[in-house]
Amino acid sequence: MSFEVRPVTDNEEYKDAIQAIGQYFGMQLTDESVERFLKVLPHERMHAACEDGRIVGGAGAFSWDLSIPGGSLPTAGVSVVGVYPTHRRRGVLRAMMRAQLDDARERGEPLAALWASEETIYGRFGYGVAGWVGQLTIPREYSDFVRPFEREGEIRFVDGDEAFELFPPIWEAVRSERAGMYVRPDDWWRDRIIRDPEDRREGAGPKRFIVHEIDGRPEAYAIYRHKAGFEAGTSTGVTHVVEAMSATPVGTQNVWRYLLDIDWSATIEASLLPPDHPLFLLLATPRRGKYRMGDGLWLRLVDAGAALAARSYRDGDPVVLEVRDAFCDWNEGRWKVGGGSAERTKSKSDLRLDAEALGSAYLGGVTFAQLRNALRVEEVTKGAVARADALFRTDLHPWCPEIF
Ligand SMILES: CC(C)(COP(=O)(O)OP(=O)(O)OC[C@H]1O[C@@H](n2cnc3c(N)ncnc32)[C@H](O)[C@@H]1OP(=O)(O)O)[C@@H](O)C(=O)NCCC(=O)NCCS
Repeated sequence: MSFEVRPVTDNEEYKDAIQAIGQYFGMQLTDESVERFLKVLPHERMHAACEDGRIVGGAGAFSWDLSIPGGSLPTAGVSVVGVYPTHRRRGVLRAMMRAQLDDARERGEPLAALWASEETIYGRFGYGVAGWVGQLTIPREYSDFVRPFEREGEIRFVDGDEAFELFPPIWEAVRSERAGMYVRPDDWWRDRIIRDPEDRREGAGPKRFIVHEIDGRPEAYAIYRHKAGFEAGTSTGVTHVVEAMSATPVGTQNVWRYLLDIDWSATIEASLLPPDHPLFLLLATPRRGKYRMGDGLWLRLVDAGAALAARSYRDGDPVVLEVRDAFCDWNEGRWKVGGGSAERTKSKSDLRLDAEALGSAYLGGVTFAQLRNALRVEEVTKGAVARADALFRTDLHPWCPEIF
């Protein structure tokens, strides 16, 4: 099949390329939505696959800084990937992944990250599950904290403008201690977080924005919606938590107590929570929340050398990783990690793994022991799995709290 993959050149092409995924959502892009989207995803980052002058697929990448252990790295935030059903399973996605990863490499982005619509798609392109997230559905009557709670500070409603001022620093504070979070550009905050179009509410009410402050100092924020309901005279309402963030235990505790206590709610729903979210230890009966966990952020090392050299490691003996990477063969070979650095080496390998497994291990969300137990890593030198885990270990699970 002959088709060409290249960045789009004008708004018409842009629309057609995004519509490749948009049509699966039942969406029809308007000129207004194109203008808005262009602010965070310019033409040059939207690849299109074209056949005989017609667009048959599209794949975009946001330009981001993603938090990694000990810092932050330029990252291609892969999104709006789709192929029209007329051209599925003819290699269009593969060609777009090729062009996109080559482009990210040329731009000097050592990482690419995405959320997968299906777990079976991206492993072949070197993406691995880098972090887990899940949903809690907490019945109001099982929302008590395990310890006595004393309210500290005040919670107040804010409008969109004030949210735009107050929320980003809190997001940044959380980002500084969790890998897997990106810097949200101003237009992202305005258009995707604060803006609240009716067609995105899924039957619930508008977004409510609250901030928790102690002595006027913002400690936490939350965005939530009410979905009211009554049955036989009893409330069946849901408080749907869109996002609740705080970098301090007191902020976390106060903002969640507020969310859990809202009247007329039978259930409090929160999704995209990492498995080590503080809520699990704050609640007396977290089991009642029926946590359902699944894959969150997927990660690919576009430039293994740059990515491995950029993250921090714990103290410990170095290990030599032998990386197999058929899709990005420049990453192949042996990498010595440890002693505060990562570099190519001729030393013999301690662990053999492919790019997908390396993507899973990189942020510390999946251990080498887990990968070995699932036959994703081969331990060549006895004890190398434990050594690698000692180096890569992080205190907190990576967390990407938003599907992009
Ligand atoms: C998923 C999608 C992008 C695949 O595009 P495509 O052009 O049909 O994929 P390709 O023909 O390039 O397939 C490349 C490989 O991926 C496999 N593959 C593609 N889609 C797959 C899927 N949904 N599940 C499992 N494998 C899949 C193909 O079998 C092929 O395997 P191979 O390497 O062994 O030959 C397309 O079906 C689509 O747009 N789906 C709906 C929207 C969507 O899910 N987009 C992804 C958003 S994250």
